[in-house]
Amino acid sequence: MQTTDIVIIGAGAAGMLCAATAGARGRKVVLIDHAAKLAEKIRISGGGRCNFTNLQVRPECYLSANPHYCKSALARYTAQDFIKLMARHGLTYHEKTLGQLFCDQGSGAIIQMLKAEVDAGGALWRMHTPIEQIERLDDGFMVRTAAETWRCASLVIASGGLSIPQIGASAFGYELARRFGLEIVPTAPALVPLTFQPQDLWSELAGVAVPDATATCGRTRFREAVLLTHKGLSGPAILQISSYWQPGQPISIDLLPDRAITEVLAAGNRDALLANVLADAIPKRLAHAVVAALGENRPLKQYPAKTLHQLEERLKRWQVVPSGTEGYRKAEVTRGGVATSALDSRTMQAKTVPGLFFIGEVVDVTGWLGGYNFQWAWSSGHVAGSHA
Ligand code: FDA
Repeated sequence: MQTTDIVIIGAGAAGMLCAATAGARGRKVVLIDHAAKLAEKIRISGGGRCNFTNLQVRPECYLSANPHYCKSALARYTAQDFIKLMARHGLTYHEKTLGQLFCDQGSGAIIQMLKAEVDAGGALWRMHTPIEQIERLDDGFMVRTAAETWRCASLVIASGGLSIPQIGASAFGYELARRFGLEIVPTAPALVPLTFQPQDLWSELAGVAVPDATATCGRTRFREAVLLTHKGLSGPAILQISSYWQPGQPISIDLLPDRAITEVLAAGNRDALLANVLADAIPKRLAHAVVAALGENRPLKQYPAKTLHQLEERLKRWQVVPSGTEGYRKAEVTRGGVATSALDSRTMQAKTVPGLFFIGEVVDVTGWLGGYNFQWAWSSGHVAGSHA
């Protein structure tokens, strides 16, 4: 049996930041991952440009049974800290909408930067290495792989969530937490497209994008683009609201926020066909489909107020009840996870199992779309790396 200070399981975003932080403190680290390729999730993120953080990070942008849990870690390692790290490696970024920061050099450069930081701390890499056994010892843990057995004082679980099983996601972290008696908040796909029953679908509208819409579920509302798909709804506003949606709940969509339909129609030519007038405000295919649902497309002046009111209902208070989601294969993240009540928010350590830490997506902290999830991975990884 070989000895090390820390074994980290999962060499993704959180695991690498943790390994780099612990290594910089002089801790001996072994980083184990069952995937052959390093950090595939970072590679595919942000369309290959990695939306690595958000300038508007704040605790309200995270879902968790304990909304306060993320505060300490987010305050201790901020978006600016990660930006400084990038600057040290000569990496630059640009801001897209809503504070989202993307790496100019692409996601591969972020992976190389993190790898270099881990190497600088002297950690040992064990890629393509499944875990065969973990046991608790009097003074730490035993971690066995096919080729080696490690004894370590601290064990950090950074194995991520269930999304995108094709590139290595597994339930490992949840199962281990359960084995050690920690509670798991039920998991579900989040930041995921919503699906509908075939009879409720709008296949003729698949591909229509409404650039500015609101999606409301309960008391939560997001305003961004909505995309109509062959299976249902997608686009940023829908992905965001999907994290809050519970099966059976209706979602209300306003396809024309800030404008009343009466205002759009008042600005139109009364002799023009209704669909053409509407097409000044919403995508043409959508305008035609909405009018077709009301009957024949006639000049605006021929419509009674009652019909125009129906139009208002359909476009500004469109109520839908999704039948489900596109699941973990399409979900950007997993909601739920290791209960924050079982962990110390200042260290990420399990309260009842000294030396055992959980970081990143495996924990019941789920960020909004737009760089929030990577920031949680960096922040929680840094905190654990400072204490493990
Ligand atoms: P992560 O999934 O990164 O790493 C977990 C690691 O553990 C993996 O390397 C895996 O192979 C390993 N592992 C799993 N089970 C194991 C086992 N049994 N044994 C050993 N190793 C095991 N977020 C964001 O903020 N901005 C963005 O632009 C995007 N974009 C994006 C696009 C797509 C398509 C997806 C799917 C996700 C995003 N995300 C995102 C979310 C972001 O990728 C995610 O929140 C973080 O990668 C989570 O970091 P972790 O380190 O916790 O898990």
